[in-house]
Amino acid sequence: MRILFIGDVVGSPGRKMVEDYLPRIKEKYKPQITIINGENAAGGKGITEKIYRGFLEAGAQAVTLGNHSWDNRDIFNFIDSAKYMVRPGNFPSGTPGEGLKFIKFNQAEVAVISLQGRTFMADLDCPFKKADELVDAARKRTSFIFVDFHAEATSEKQAMGWYLDGRVSAVVGTHTHVQTADNRILPNGTAYLSDVGMTGPYDGILGMEREAVLKRFLTSMPVRFEVPEGRTILSGVIIDIDPKTGMARKTERLLINDDHPFFS
Ligand SMILES: [Fe+2]
Ligand SMILES: [Fe+2]
Repeated sequence: MRILFIGDVVGSPGRKMVEDYLPRIKEKYKPQITIINGENAAGGKGITEKIYRGFLEAGAQAVTLGNHSWDNRDIFNFIDSAKYMVRPGNFPSGTPGEGLKFIKFNQAEVAVISLQGRTFMADLDCPFKKADELVDAARKRTSFIFVDFHAEATSEKQAMGWYLDGRVSAVVGTHTHVQTADNRILPNGTAYLSDVGMTGPYDGILGMEREAVLKRFLTSMPVRFEVPEGRTILSGVIIDIDPKTGMARKTERLLINDDHPFFS
């Protein structure tokens, strides 16, 4: 069983990378399930129904979100009916959407869980306690469980990896937009990567136009962040899971840009 996960897709350059490369990546790696983090897919902030549907049409089976979930108001028009959209499960109760969804493949199901960290981020419900709850619910139906942990601090991400080791197939980080090189399989069988990295502009700063970001650092003035044109990057991870146990066997990072071209 193989899962492909693509990290934070930023704006139209990110969506174009998915359209261009997803068919080729799928042909080479043949994943059963493809999951995309789409929290920045609409102009860098949030997601629209059209973009969500576009990801499914491009070959994804699920879309995860993060701290930018509500940045585009269109989300409120469709999140309740979006069967394959997963927002951080530790948002306050009463918020629209859900943090656990089941995706069918062949005769089985994959549980997709999203959680958001609290270190240097909004003060949400405890992601660890929410993880217990969602993982228990998922394990009643399947042993294939994928967790997107959307968090800033590598310490909090590592903590989540170790906390869930042996209980889920994979804990994969998103949000920092920079891929880390620490993919591994923890001793009890959970695949772990601190951050998958982003998909979109390669020469910006975390996917945003660098002039505006620099101005903010240099002057502390409020600036408007835009998604720049130019060279692009795609970041992802491939996780192989033992079909009998639901535990990971192998991980491989995927990085496509001018410095790391893709060979199919
Ligand atoms: Fe992001
Ligand atoms: Fe984020």
